[in-house]
Amino acid sequence: MPQDETHDWEFETICQHAGEDYSHLGAVVPPLFQNSLFTYKSAEQFHSRIQNWESWDYTRVNNPTLEVAQQKIAGLERTELCRLTGSGMAAISAAVMNAAHAGDHVICTTAAYGPTIALLRDYLPQFGVQTTFVDGTDLDQIEHAIQPNTKLIYMETPGTFFFDIQDIEAICSLARSRGILTALDNSCATPYFQKPATLGVDYVVHTVTKYLGGHSDVVAGAVCGSRDRIRDLIWKEGLILGAVCDPFAGWLITRSLRTLALRMERHQSSALQVAKMLASHPKVERVYYPGLESHPGYAIVKKQMTGTSGLLSFTPKFQQKEKVFQFCENLRLFQIGCSWGGHESLAIPVTAEPRSTQWHVRMSIGLENVNDLMTDICEQLDRC
Ligand SMILES: Cc1ncc(COP(=O)(O)O)c(C=O)c1O
Repeated sequence: MPQDETHDWEFETICQHAGEDYSHLGAVVPPLFQNSLFTYKSAEQFHSRIQNWESWDYTRVNNPTLEVAQQKIAGLERTELCRLTGSGMAAISAAVMNAAHAGDHVICTTAAYGPTIALLRDYLPQFGVQTTFVDGTDLDQIEHAIQPNTKLIYMETPGTFFFDIQDIEAICSLARSRGILTALDNSCATPYFQKPATLGVDYVVHTVTKYLGGHSDVVAGAVCGSRDRIRDLIWKEGLILGAVCDPFAGWLITRSLRTLALRMERHQSSALQVAKMLASHPKVERVYYPGLESHPGYAIVKKQMTGTSGLLSFTPKFQQKEKVFQFCENLRLFQIGCSWGGHESLAIPVTAEPRSTQWHVRMSIGLENVNDLMTDICEQLDRC
């Protein structure tokens, strides 16, 4: 299928058809090119390959199996190109390092994923990149943090513990007016519920390990953006830092994308039911879920998202560490694990110091029957 056709298709159609160049074989599943190398018919063709990078050459540059998934994700994010990487952190570091160089300044939300903060706070200063961390929900804080050398504003909305919501359009318009680039981690919402590039974001990054992969059997990342930006990233951070996605992971990602819309609908509807149940439970102090009207970012959610996925947190009234740990351990249908976005339900105890010394439980609501999940949660809350 010519890639341009994808621009007229709806989400579910892109998931099925974009990037599938193998229909002439009658194959309903594209082949897996696990090879590292692609050869040339002539020395002349080899010699001129740099002008024609889209031909297959070497898997660190590109690979036809990866390209199927890349075209689907680019289409879903409404961007021109997508580059798959070996992990979400590879995508985030490639995007940040593509945008910001020695002497540049970055602004980042404090709600960003921990290793993203570590990259900006602890790692990049050795290469002359400094970062100011702000409450990303406060546009004034972002504006006040802008310096003459600010090159990038990095967003993560919703955040993945307390679901801080940043106003993407407002931040992008502020950034544009000052000639500043923007990047956004869209892993929690996925393009099914939020399309940051349509609101002005320059680099949309993902941990594909989560909802896009969806089955907890892939570690990968993605950077999406304009043709020029992503090509530049492929030749710099892709080629030199080399955090390439394995073709088999790419093949699994294509498999996963076919059910992304269905999975996200189910994750969302189950999480909303669980969130509402928890909000009225006598043993629960507070629920954090951006789909609840009580969430502080709800008005912006309604403006920029079409749904709110399957992650939520709550603060139990019982605050003894042992009881919170016991609650997580006693759940029969939730496992204890740090990732999220897969088919399985997960629950972890968290504190959020210095912001809060309280104990919370973060849940990733999986694809099990929601009544079974709610029964499990209620039974264990009753025991605490
Ligand atoms: C919001 C978010 N972004 C990025 C990452 C990093 O992704 P990966 O583990 O694929 O490197 C994670 C991992 O948990 C995450 O939660």
